[in-house]
Amino acid sequence: MEPVRQLAATLSQARRLLVLTGAGVSAESGIATFRDAQTGLWARFRPEDLATPEAFARDPALVWRWYAWRRDQIARAQPNAAHYALVEIARRLPTTLVTQNVDDLHQRAGFHDAICLHGSIARTLCSITGQAIDADWLAAHPQEPPPSPHHPRGLARPGVVWFGENLPAAALEQAYAAAADCDVVLAIGTSALVHPAAGLPAEAQRHGAWFAEINPQRTPLSGQADLCLPLAAGVALPAVLAAWNGVHA
Ligand code: APR
Repeated sequence: MEPVRQLAATLSQARRLLVLTGAGVSAESGIATFRDAQTGLWARFRPEDLATPEAFARDPALVWRWYAWRRDQIARAQPNAAHYALVEIARRLPTTLVTQNVDDLHQRAGFHDAICLHGSIARTLCSITGQAIDADWLAAHPQEPPPSPHHPRGLARPGVVWFGENLPAAALEQAYAAAADCDVVLAIGTSALVHPAAGLPAEAQRHGAWFAEINPQRTPLSGQADLCLPLAAGVALPAVLAAWNGVHA
């Protein structure tokens, strides 16, 4: 059976699904993935050199401007067919969505309880206390970055998890609990290079789950997948839904 129909048939029999998404699921919305070459102004920087506490300490204005550019790119983007297909799959099958993405496209497509392992670019925190900083304060303080209202030496920083920082404990716990309780796990649009997120499919397999990967490229997880769909997410997921309809017919 060809891979799309095989995945559809498996999902139609599944009890509980875990989905792990990465930047690839937002690629067809026009948002550059983490490891694609950065475009334009930011082409000369590597994300790994910007998304770190050290980079922010060294040049807070540069890091703040990079996130402002990404936030603007996201605000102008729309969810794509992959985001909407995942909402439809979750209507048919109890689904836990764990995302590494910091954009809000899953939520804007209607997946409101996505577990955000790496935080959210839409949130702004105090660089010292970690407390949230609201939009009114940011609008009233146009400095780059704005000062924090929570600490005299604090600065506003994006509410994302930087390299070397801890992931939100509750989100991680929920994600691993879902891995222990699913019978199918899907990894979509992730290079599977960053742990602990990349460890979720193997954790699900340790609990007996069947694992499929949707990614045009092979990844370190491809060799252990029960099924690989070398397709773009925005093509694969609508095709799986269409085949799923056929499964019942
Ligand atoms: N559909 C599916 N997959 C795609 C598509 C697409 N249309 N386009 C690209 N991809 C795949 C690429 O082949 C790649 O494997 O998406 C993956 C994107 O990988 P990365 O850019 O590494 O993004 P991601 O896996 O989310 O990175 C994980 O690393 O840098 C940290 O915190 C950051 O959350 C990020 C984490």
